Amino acid sequence: MNAKVVVVGSLNMDLVARAQRLPRAGETLPGESFFTVPGGKGANQAVAVARLGGSVAMIGNVGDDDYGRQLHRALYVEGIDCQGVITCQGVSSGVALITVDAASQNCIVIIPGGNGLLTPQSVQRFDALLQAAEVIICQLEVPTDTVAWTLARGRELGKQVILNPAPATGPLPADWFAHIDYLTPNESEAEALTGVAVADLDSARRAGERLLQLGAGKVIITLGAQGALLVTPEGHQHFPAPLVQPLDTTAAGDTFIGGFAAGLVRGLEEGEAITFGQRAAALSVTRAGAQPSIPYLAELAP
Ligand code: RIB
Repeated sequence: MNAKVVVVGSLNMDLVARAQRLPRAGETLPGESFFTVPGGKGANQAVAVARLGGSVAMIGNVGDDDYGRQLHRALYVEGIDCQGVITCQGVSSGVALITVDAASQNCIVIIPGGNGLLTPQSVQRFDALLQAAEVIICQLEVPTDTVAWTLARGRELGKQVILNPAPATGPLPADWFAHIDYLTPNESEAEALTGVAVADLDSARRAGERLLQLGAGKVIITLGAQGALLVTPEGHQHFPAPLVQPLDTTAAGDTFIGGFAAGLVRGLEEGEAITFGQRAAALSVTRAGAQPSIPYLAELAP
């Protein structure tokens, strides 16, 4: 069966330390626990689509190491089409060093490894997957020219193109916007893309309108406990977040995006798909780790 969603992006092994608080510069801080789990924004989003009822294929790279084999297997056991997950010889797999504090805040350092070798040509090899898909999702943990190529190809093929601009360090190239149906930054990413400090719904709306002016089709700004704001040329709509006690917010955004995409390909209306993604993300923040925290469809109340 052809996958309805294709994710082009990163796979990382997450090395997670929990501590009471995040360390300051130069400080050695005793931690409380350590675990290693599959992650990476691209792979997390693919897992979220699969667990939440969508068929999905992943295009990305791992290194020829134990982490790479584990990352590949983590997707395979979810029923994800992994023909586009390639093992790069002589490089390590991507890793993410994550610290989570008692307030469930995190900070993350990523080392790209094989993710850094995902070229436009490597994606082009799997053009049949893109052609068969309804929705194509990219993030920013693989090389910029690869994201640019994939967005343009998605538009050329007439697919729904979602860009999760994470991690964002500054404005996006101007010629990307016309290829994006849904741009999905969080608060800090929206600020990096627009220069508008996003702290509340009003500032989120202004950032969203700026991104529309730049050419994005629609913008969904995720605001953590404040919910999500959909900004379109017709206006804006706020979606409040379900109230939960957070344990670890890692991959909450990925779960939202995967749930949103799964909802779209399952035929939900746009607003219903946003609410569905939010419900999945809310459950994910009550659990530790990236991929282990992503819920299955059966866990979400109807
Ligand atoms: O979005 C969460 C992800 O960001 C983690 O799984 C980590 O790998 C980093 O890519």
